[in-house]
Amino acid sequence: MTDATRSSRRSGWNKLTPSERVKELAEWLDADPNDLRSLFEGGGLDAAAADALVENVCGRYALPFSVAPNFTIDGRDVWIPMVVEEPSVVAACSNAARMVREGGGFRAEADDPIMICQIQLFCDDLAKAREAILENKARLLDIAGKQDEALARNGGGPRDLEAREMRDPETDENFLVVHLLVDVRDAMGANAVNTMGEAIAPEIEKLTGGVYGLRILTNLADRRLVRVSFECPAEALALKGYPAEQVVDGVVSASRFAELDPYRAATHNKGIMNGVDPVLVATGNDWRAVEAGAHAYAAKSGRYKPLSVFRKNAEGRLTGRLEMPMAVGVVGGATRAHPAARLALEIMGVKTARDLAILAATAGLATNLASLRALSTEGIQKGHMRLHQRSRHLQK
Ligand code: MEV
Repeated sequence: MTDATRSSRRSGWNKLTPSERVKELAEWLDADPNDLRSLFEGGGLDAAAADALVENVCGRYALPFSVAPNFTIDGRDVWIPMVVEEPSVVAACSNAARMVREGGGFRAEADDPIMICQIQLFCDDLAKAREAILENKARLLDIAGKQDEALARNGGGPRDLEAREMRDPETDENFLVVHLLVDVRDAMGANAVNTMGEAIAPEIEKLTGGVYGLRILTNLADRRLVRVSFECPAEALALKGYPAEQVVDGVVSASRFAELDPYRAATHNKGIMNGVDPVLVATGNDWRAVEAGAHAYAAKSGRYKPLSVFRKNAEGRLTGRLEMPMAVGVVGGATRAHPAARLALEIMGVKTARDLAILAATAGLATNLASLRALSTEGIQKGHMRLHQRSRHLQK
């Protein structure tokens, strides 16, 4: 991450022109502003690179590339790039980061980057098949590991195998679900684990006499969680006409609403994804995968819940805590092939998938806090519509 000695705090950024912001960004990166300007003029991606990235390309589709300043995470000051079409998200994110830094900033931690590949196995005796698989775990892990020797050289690779029996009451069809757990290091990991799953499935068939079905990762990446928290002095949250304590109580009450009601929890979590997704888009990551994982994790207890919770502590400070799966990478796919995605990683100074996971989740907790603060005081529309006006003249 970036140099801990310099401040990410910026005020009045909303009053600058894009060209002035690029100048500041170039200073932050110690880069030539003209290089950044020409990158942005081309939408960050030239026609040939676009054609190489996916199929049937006819053109390119631009979105605004913004930067949210003011973040302090684990004592380091960072800027967070965001690519998003919705007005007020970037402003909300940097505004919340400014408030939280008054309490010392965000704290974060992430699990090892473990992804899971599921292998479905149809067989008659599920318990016997499970036993055979677990007895041969070391050999199966070895076969899986040989599929990606580069990953092994980087310290990653298969870590474990688990198996669950699944009974379908509708069809009476029984099958085993084998989970292959793989440390994917700095990749999102889909290709690595799918390749490994496809490699061991025929071996599992031989061992059990069963027949394999699907072999694909699960987006419920619940072994790859990220946790972000903060503690913010009440005064930092005050707003004209709304005393600090009232704001804290309002945010806590909004949190309780989401904890009790899945209808509210869905919208609460959308406010989190307002911060997460723009970071994923900016860095060329698979935001659909993270969205799927986030909502599946929110519903894991059997009832859909908010991914974050806010409380008032004994000193009257607001505390916030977010936990969610975050399957992201800093190598492979568009993260390296898209020049603007490479720039986004450079702006954040992230070198590992773990660091990126932390930054994306932190942006999520920041936009979430900003939404709850606005909703429990003046309402969301006042600020939102003011910013929305900026693009009204473009509407056809
Ligand atoms: C709008 O994009 C997001 C919010 O609806 C989130 C929330 O209600 O918490 C404001």
